[in-house]
Amino acid sequence: MSEFIETRGLRKVYHVGGQTVEALQGVDLEITKGDFIVFMGHSGSGKTTLVSAIGGLTRPTEGTVLIEGNDIWKLNDKELSHFRNRKIGFMFQSFSLLPTLNVLNNVVMPAIFSGNSGEKDSDALKSKAISLLSDLDMKKKVNSFPSELSGGEQRRVAIARALINDPEIILADEPTGELDIRTEREVIDIFSHINDVYKKTLIVVSHSLSWIEKARTIIVMKDGLMYKDLDDPVEAIMSGVCKQ
Ligand SMILES: Nc1ncnc2c1ncn2[C@@H]1O[C@H](COP(=O)(O)OP(=O)(O)OP(=O)(O)O)[C@@H](O)[C@H]1O
Ligand SMILES: [Mg+2]
Repeated sequence: MSEFIETRGLRKVYHVGGQTVEALQGVDLEITKGDFIVFMGHSGSGKTTLVSAIGGLTRPTEGTVLIEGNDIWKLNDKELSHFRNRKIGFMFQSFSLLPTLNVLNNVVMPAIFSGNSGEKDSDALKSKAISLLSDLDMKKKVNSFPSELSGGEQRRVAIARALINDPEIILADEPTGELDIRTEREVIDIFSHINDVYKKTLIVVSHSLSWIEKARTIIVMKDGLMYKDLDDPVEAIMSGVCKQ
């Protein structure tokens, strides 16, 4: 049986101003359903590029991304966008909350976009959004606007929004960036809860060591390659020596 998510020989080459950057240099990765993976590693090591390729956002130069055995980069644009909406909840920095929409409407947005069948009824969608927000202790803020929320509250809204289509996979790039350590801990605990209780497969990119004790799998990226099962991931990041 194939893995839930698999990458084979994944390469990504960027050409900028006559320069070539090998952002991914052949990544073979297997992710089982229900895993909680954190990618760590220096800036520029290829973390965002890798998770964007897995999420159907950045087309690899070579190699395959298989999700439940399907090569997502063989899909046409419409199929790919359907796949993203149905399968993946994104929490990327570039996918920030829309300032002109209140909390409730920010959460409901991806469901409206995907025309989620069975839930076209906007009242049903709103109740689902309110239930997710309640679970994240944000019920009292449903009518607030993003600018009226703290950084931690904004993350909770982004988490609820990532969950609205009930995706199997959550992809989060630096979901705790710029948070104080207490709020960071709260957000990490929410991710743990989503993994334990909602059984979502979590793929997180972070520079913070606070994820280490909660994640199931730690992967260190270095120069476009990934290193799994390291004895001491922190030492590997610090020394730049990735011994498996
Ligand atoms: N759109 C792009 N065009 C050109 N080069 C890019 C592009 N995106 C990323 N790169 C380059 O690819 C390499 C990997 O970038 P990537 O964003 O994946 O790193 P990262 O590990 O996420 O870094 P950070 O921790 O700073 O977010 C870097 O050298 C970066 O400059
Ligand atoms: Mg990045």
